[in-house]
Amino acid sequence: MKPFVNEPILELRRAPVRAQLRGALEAFDAEPVIQVPVWIGEDTRGGGALISVDPGEPERVVAESAIASEADIDHALDLAARSEWRRTPATARAEVLVRAAAWLRERRLEIAALEVRETAKPWREADADVCEAIDFLEYYARGAVELAERPGELIQLPGERNELRWAPRGVVAVVSPWNFPVAIPLGMVSAALATGNAVALKPAEQAPACAYMLVRALRESGLPASALALLPGEGPVGAALVADPRVHTIAFTGSGPVGLEIVRRAAEVAPGQRHLKRVVAEMGGKNCVIVDSDADLDDVVPALVKSAFNYAGQKCSAAARVLAHEAIHDGLVERLAGAIEVLHVGQASDPEIDLGPVIEREAQERVARYTATAEASGTIAARAGSVPEHGYFATPVLATDLPEDSPVLGEEIFGPLLAVERVKSVEEACDRIDASPFGLTGGLFSRSPRTVEYVADRSPVGNLYVNREITGAMVGRQPFGGNRLSGTGTKAGGPGYLLQFVEPRVVTENTVRHGLVV
Ligand SMILES: NC(=O)c1ccc[n+]([C@@H]2O[C@H](COP(=O)([O-])OP(=O)(O)OC[C@H]3O[C@@H](n4cnc5c(N)ncnc54)[C@H](O)[C@@H]3O)[C@@H](O)[C@H]2O)c1
Repeated sequence: MKPFVNEPILELRRAPVRAQLRGALEAFDAEPVIQVPVWIGEDTRGGGALISVDPGEPERVVAESAIASEADIDHALDLAARSEWRRTPATARAEVLVRAAAWLRERRLEIAALEVRETAKPWREADADVCEAIDFLEYYARGAVELAERPGELIQLPGERNELRWAPRGVVAVVSPWNFPVAIPLGMVSAALATGNAVALKPAEQAPACAYMLVRALRESGLPASALALLPGEGPVGAALVADPRVHTIAFTGSGPVGLEIVRRAAEVAPGQRHLKRVVAEMGGKNCVIVDSDADLDDVVPALVKSAFNYAGQKCSAAARVLAHEAIHDGLVERLAGAIEVLHVGQASDPEIDLGPVIEREAQERVARYTATAEASGTIAARAGSVPEHGYFATPVLATDLPEDSPVLGEEIFGPLLAVERVKSVEEACDRIDASPFGLTGGLFSRSPRTVEYVADRSPVGNLYVNREITGAMVGRQPFGGNRLSGTGTKAGGPGYLLQFVEPRVVTENTVRHGLVV
């Protein structure tokens, strides 16, 4: 296989590319509503118990999905536990993944159009999500072959042979969120499959059609039917998978409370269970950016606006708090306010917008609640000027002068609300960040190498970005994942990630000849 390279994103500034996207969306809209089945082995079961809609225009039904029942879960895990996928050599497994990457590449516009409709991802981000999904397939395919061919060097003495092998752990339950609706589930699924595990996927209830696409990509690329089941549904489907003794590994990405519940449930050993479950959990954050007194505000303002408001603040890596040195605080707030007031909020399908709607009514209400709290206890320094009334739109807001114990500063809002705090020094900013239970992403703007080193040393986050926006981690370049209550410290798209899905076995053989048995 050729060395891994990231999939190039589309050049949306070019008119012909935008025309292609428009064409893809028209073609998508002309198709009937997508029917997402429960898909186990060769069996599919339809039904429209779960309705997924366009957040920008909630009357538009994008998909109708079946919901996996207890019997479906039982059937899926029974088949997965008996799957022969683990016996397929690593190179053959990798070939399936690479073919699935090609499948996605061929349909990238169609899939991006689906993301625009089902999750209101603006084009740029929808395209980036498809590219990241392709990257995960290509990256983990190579990583698994490497692990099989070069499992690790052990010390060898005369008369003894020591061998390290990595065996698949067993059935993996993947439970995923909606905000990277193809890349995140496919990342977890492909890591599990690349290392020889069968998978039961429980995708987010808000994006079942995106999950259906990725299962099709793998199944239509030669993945045996027993190796991957699609179990759409809401939280209880995920909870049933987590509790089942046939599951060995749970790969979860989502909110903190659900992650903690999964960690707790997975620690219980059911009667007859002969293994400990491993949980790979990537959870929420409250991401802080420090702006020092020497920072160049011409760089800072656009980077902050992008980090906080792209995809309406619904990236786990999005900026939520800015800790600004008192020397530049007022100037920064004034310039941020100017930038936020003119943000263009509109439908995700419009290539001109800065941000679209949030995912659902509940999210819209949550942002409004935190905005009201910020207004009551601090100052709303800016609001975006015009926001559509119809659809699940939330108004982008800049909040300042909040008390240190405000929930607006302490809790993940997951929407377009950015708070700025005044600090006397970078040390004070680091102290405040250190007091937070989260550790996902962070940022620093400074011209001093000493400050950069100081903050890098003190920062607890999994991904720290210096003098740039804090979103947009790339597979293989910025392995991604949080520390503290933001995650179990594993890094998606990084060299160690696959080790979560395998168990080490060491075989030691006495090689001193004792004669042949005939
Ligand atoms: N750290 C990361 O890499 C990362 C990436 C993306 C999103 N996130 C986080 O995800 C959250 C947004 O996603 P969301 O709203 O889909 O999260 P969520 O926790 O509400 O849901 C995630 C998944 O868990 C399922 N689920 C719900 N209750 C469950 C239970 N009791 N047992 C098992 N499964 C259950 C849901 O149905 C869904 O499939 C944010 O907190 C965001 O920060 C983190």
